Amino acid sequence: MPFGFGRPGHKRAARSGREEVGALGVAVVTGAGRGIGRSVARRLAADGYRIVAVDVDGHAASATAAEIGGEARTCDVAVRDAVQQLADDVAAAVGDVEVLVNNAGIWRFTSLAGTLEEDAARVLDVNLLGTLWCCQAFAPTMSEHHGGSIVNLSSGAATARTPGYGLYPSSKAGVEALTGQLALELGHHFGPRPVSGRPLRRQLCVTLVVVVQVVRRPSAEQADERER
Ligand SMILES: NC(=O)c1ccc[n+]([C@@H]2O[C@H](COP(=O)([O-])OP(=O)(O)OC[C@H]3O[C@@H](n4cnc5c(N)ncnc54)[C@H](O)[C@@H]3O)[C@@H](O)[C@H]2O)c1
Repeated sequence: MPFGFGRPGHKRAARSGREEVGALGVAVVTGAGRGIGRSVARRLAADGYRIVAVDVDGHAASATAAEIGGEARTCDVAVRDAVQQLADDVAAAVGDVEVLVNNAGIWRFTSLAGTLEEDAARVLDVNLLGTLWCCQAFAPTMSEHHGGSIVNLSSGAATARTPGYGLYPSSKAGVEALTGQLALELGHHFGPRPVSGRPLRRQLCVTLVVVVQVVRRPSAEQADERER
C-alpha cells in the first residue's frame, strides 16, 4: 500500500482497490470536499478504509462521501470545541480511527507587509492550530485503542521562498515543527519513537507530507510472546 498507513502488521490492501470498504478501519480526512483531500479520501477508500470526509463546506464533504460510500461531517478545524465534538461523534457513530489526514488548509496571496490581521489569524488558525486541534482530539484514542497514523500536510513553501505567499509558508513550517514535536510526545508516551517524514506520492510531489505513526506500546504479555 503506497501510503504505508495503518498499524504495524495490519493487513495491507491490494493496490487494485478490491479490499472491502472499511476492512482497514476508519480514516478521517479533513478538507476532503475537494482538491488533494478529496483525492486522498478516494484513494484511501479504494484501499479499504471507511472514510469520514470532513470539510467546513458540508455540501462538498457530502459529495465526496456519496461518491466513495463514506461518512460526511461538517466541521471547521480551526474551532477546537467543534473538532473535539467531531472526534467524539466519529468514535460513537463510526468507530475507532486508524488514520487521520490533516489536509484542510488555506492561503492568502499577499505580501507579509500587506497581510491583514484577520487573514493572518485565519491562516494560522486553520493550517497550524487546526492541525493541532485534530491531533489533540484524535491521537489519544488512537493510542489507547489500536495505534494508527497521523498525516499532516505541509508544503514545499515551508522552506522555499516564494514572493506573494505571505504567512502561508510560516504556517506550514509550523506544521512540520508541530509534527516532529507530536512524534516526540507520542513516542515518549506510547511506544518507540515512531516518526517518518517523506513525500509519499507522485501526485503529492509538491506537498511535503509529514507522518506520525501512533504505535501502541505492546502489553507485557505481547512483549513476552515476541521474545519466545
Ligand atoms: N495545491 C497545492 O499545490 C498544494 C501544495 C502544497 C501543499 N498543499 C496543501 O495541501 C492541502 C490541500 O490543498 P488543496 O490544494 O487541495 O486545497 P483546496 O483549497 O483545493 O481544498 C481545501 C479544502 O479544505 C477545506 N477547508 C478549508 N478550510 C477548512 C477548515 N477551516 N475546516 C475544514 N475544512 C476546510 C475547503 O473547503 C476545501 O474543500 C492544504 O493543506 C495545502 O496547504 C497544497
